[in-house]
Amino acid sequence: MAHTIVILGASGDLTSRKLIPALFSLFRKNRLPPQTRIVGFSRSELTDEAWRAALAASTRAHGDHGWDEAAFAAFASSVHYQRGDIQDADAFASLGRRLDALEGADPATRVYYLATLPALYPTAVRQLGSAGLANRDRGDRRTVVEKPFGSDLASARALNAELHQVFPERDIYRIDHYLGKETVQNLLVLRFANSIFEPIWNRNYVDHVQITVAEEVDVGRRGAFYDGSGVLRDMFQNHLLQLLMVTAMEAPVRFDADLVRDEKVKVLRSIRGMRGADFATDTIRAQYDGFARTSGVADGSRTATFAAVKLRIDNWRWKDVPFYLRSGKAMSCRTTQIVIQFREPPHMMFRVPASGHWESNRLVIQVQPAEGLQLHFQSKTPDANMNLRNATLDFRFRSGAESEMPDAYQRLLVDLLAGDASLFARSDEVERAWEIIDPILAAWQSPAAPPLESYPVGAWGPASSEQWMADQGRHWFDVCPVLH
Ligand code: BG6
Repeated sequence: MAHTIVILGASGDLTSRKLIPALFSLFRKNRLPPQTRIVGFSRSELTDEAWRAALAASTRAHGDHGWDEAAFAAFASSVHYQRGDIQDADAFASLGRRLDALEGADPATRVYYLATLPALYPTAVRQLGSAGLANRDRGDRRTVVEKPFGSDLASARALNAELHQVFPERDIYRIDHYLGKETVQNLLVLRFANSIFEPIWNRNYVDHVQITVAEEVDVGRRGAFYDGSGVLRDMFQNHLLQLLMVTAMEAPVRFDADLVRDEKVKVLRSIRGMRGADFATDTIRAQYDGFARTSGVADGSRTATFAAVKLRIDNWRWKDVPFYLRSGKAMSCRTTQIVIQFREPPHMMFRVPASGHWESNRLVIQVQPAEGLQLHFQSKTPDANMNLRNATLDFRFRSGAESEMPDAYQRLLVDLLAGDASLFARSDEVERAWEIIDPILAAWQSPAAPPLESYPVGAWGPASSEQWMADQGRHWFDVCPVLH
């Protein structure tokens, strides 16, 4: 069956920086189904040739392999452009005629990729419906929705309702590019294809879990967008909660879209809601110095660029094991890591080391930049009686692999074309995630809010974040990438 990917918002950054480079890499690796064509749709006045030339330049700059002119020309022969405005019903009628002409008599699976401004998603979906472009009589019809998926629970529900008017849930693919990252998928393999981790992956052995997504970059040119969104909407509602779900979920019976997502949603349903004083004791918010002077950011902005949140999962596996989530811009370095901090041994017969404390076992799952695992354990210091030292065992995910680590979009696009939604968010998952984030957002606007702290660019957040952990007898694993 042929496939047609229709990109609505074809002249935007996402298309040129992510989608086309990923599709080209897949083409070169022979991973695209045969007869896959791409049709761009946007307001810019462009011919097929002009769009192909623009994509050649951007793919050369952003693609992940050495540049190959001839390969791009072969790929580009299946790339087409159709001018049109999302507000204009006639433009969708023309798009339909163009797609029919390109596909000819053969039925094709069509994927409508919403890569446009989020405010236009509802209109775009309505227009697809009214123009009959979602009719399935000549092949499957799917739609892909980029984040942000709403800006709170009400808007996410409204968007789901709009989408469901036109597409059944099984044909809606909500992107969270963190689920396309190799280490996140590998976490499922680590947990559920091995027998040695699962028995200790619970409250009996784990003291707490830390999930850190630290970014070294500041908000850059996205000041206006970011000021209206902040770190909870931009990173927590989606990426951090996805990492939490994959870390905490039970084993699904099969790697099947609904079974995987059922287990993930159960985790979100088990998260204890915060109330009253919880917001001040269990959340920290901060802004990096200089944020309010960024172009596009309102003077005196109170938007948080860093947050730390303590969540409790009330189920048999995780009762009383806190999950500490934190993320921020302008931090020390770029690292995404999940730290499983194990309990101390119940009794220690060895002498306390010179450092004054034992480092109990820790598994560091480094999601990026380099992907891999590091296990921290105690070992004897060679030739030094029974003195102990902290030791590590490293696993680099790319070791033994011949190919480069693919960009997250490659994996997600392959799954999308194959009709496998396991690594995409389902409507209930997105809504439940907002149900967790919305009360924190509301509390931060109320007298229950913790103070808005500040932190210097290049720090691990505000000093209060360290103190907060220390008050709980714990400390953050503030270490830049442990693997390179
Ligand atoms: C995006 C956020 O979803 O994820 C950005 O909007 C953030 O603010 C980005 O920088 C981080 O993604 P990655 O893959 O670089 O960790």
